[in-house]
Amino acid sequence: MDTMFETTKTETLFATPFARIKVADHDILDAELLAEGARMRAASEGVQKSNRGGWHSQGNIFDNPAECIQHLRAAAQAAIFDLTRQVTKRVDPADLQMKLSGWMNANPQGGFNAPHTHPGAHWSGVYYVSQPDVADGTSGMIEFLDPRTDLPNWRILRANTFRPKRKIRPAAGEIILFPSYLVHWVYPNETDDERVTVAFNATFRKKRSARKKAS
Ligand SMILES: [Fe+2]
Repeated sequence: MDTMFETTKTETLFATPFARIKVADHDILDAELLAEGARMRAASEGVQKSNRGGWHSQGNIFDNPAECIQHLRAAAQAAIFDLTRQVTKRVDPADLQMKLSGWMNANPQGGFNAPHTHPGAHWSGVYYVSQPDVADGTSGMIEFLDPRTDLPNWRILRANTFRPKRKIRPAAGEIILFPSYLVHWVYPNETDDERVTVAFNATFRKKRSARKKAS
């Protein structure tokens, strides 16, 4: 022990939690989601959001009763609860009402997503249904930007928490979860294969009974 000083507390302030979750037995799930996606696509032209090129499903995908969609909904909800419990011990997410809304994205060659956030939600996430196989390059990578004021002088310390951006290429079968305020964008798909994902937002509210009690 150093006798010259005593550290009484070290806090990690203003940190941004970011989680990667592997879904068990995802091969069958992914095949079913691709088939369900093809059915949905045949029935709807989709909508234009942050996607440039490609298809973005309409409405809340989790309203679709197909077993594969409901399985993904359950996995996403469990992952959200788990991450929420890691960041707070004061509230149990199961005591809150959670609205989960999602949509499917299909990014063909050249397709990408412009930088954006998901305002209004708590957590945002993406499940990777298919991800083109690439040895190098940036195809299919998602990049997150530091939400705090960029401080370039911090780079000399090479500290993960102060890096200005972070890009990753999640694999099929992975869920990534992050706070909705985190700016992110997707690198153009340079392959011939489609990259298919299901993105979602989770928003918590007090349960109706709890709201009544408080008023
Ligand atoms: Fe997004």
